Amino acid sequence: MAQILDGKAHADRMLEVVRTSVEARISAGLRAPCLAVVLVGENPASQVYVKNKVAACIRTGIRSLERFLPETTSSSTLLATILQLNEAPDVDGILVQLPLPKPLDAKAIVQRIDPAKDVDGLHPLNQGLLFQGQKGLRPCTPNAVMNMLKAYGVVMQGKRAVVLGRSEIVGKPMALMLLEEQATVTIAHSRTLDLPALCREADILVAAMGQPGLVEGSWIKPGAVVVDVGINRVEKLGLGERIFAKDPKKLETLKAKGSVLCGDVRYGEAFEVAGAITPVPGGVGPLTIAGLLMNTLQACEARG
Ligand code: GUN
Repeated sequence: MAQILDGKAHADRMLEVVRTSVEARISAGLRAPCLAVVLVGENPASQVYVKNKVAACIRTGIRSLERFLPETTSSSTLLATILQLNEAPDVDGILVQLPLPKPLDAKAIVQRIDPAKDVDGLHPLNQGLLFQGQKGLRPCTPNAVMNMLKAYGVVMQGKRAVVLGRSEIVGKPMALMLLEEQATVTIAHSRTLDLPALCREADILVAAMGQPGLVEGSWIKPGAVVVDVGINRVEKLGLGERIFAKDPKKLETLKAKGSVLCGDVRYGEAFEVAGAITPVPGGVGPLTIAGLLMNTLQACEARG
């Protein structure tokens, strides 16, 4: 049976650190940090993310500024918004909620964010600093996952780590951060041959492919640390019956409500084999927002 890595509890501790730091700034006569979130269009998942970010800001005393733009916003209008936020002296962090509606080019937009305010850590300058192992703003999810693994005392040095997924926001930076901690890292992806055999070598397995229940219990090395970054909504009963064979509560929820949230790992199966594992929900999800607010505080303090 695995130890549960409680992302929600760790995120609460991170948010408490942010809250007390903000309070200390204000007591010292300094201004509160400010995070600007830009949301283009009406993607329902993005609207939920933004709402959660605003709630976390309120909880920690960080000022939050929202810019809601219509689905049809042109690239030049969006850029004008970014440039205005870059210039605003009291804005410390800028986050453009992804994905952007077509035909907007996320990479081109993110490159125009002031790197000192790039709290997503997606600007090429911040990516370069991470590549070189230097201090900078780092992508929130992998940064917060590393923070949690260290807090749980997970040893990374010399271990085999496998990261499933090669996204700029999770997979690639996660691999670089594990490497920085002296793990031996492999990035696997949709074209990797014999994924199960590769996963079985992992002492630390990070799943970030966005495929519900991809990782089976038999893919996991006994005692491995499993971090499940996936947050997927499953609606198909056939799929649910396959991936929730050892997760009767999930299957029950799916049948009762018509959908259920799950990760990229078959939790019920993995739980019997792994040494430690993050649940979904309540694992990595809450860490992302905690990481974002940590980055906003870091950006504010670095800007002086
Ligand atoms: N959409 C889903 N997750 C994220 C994130 O971490 N940052 C941004 N900008 N958009 C997202």
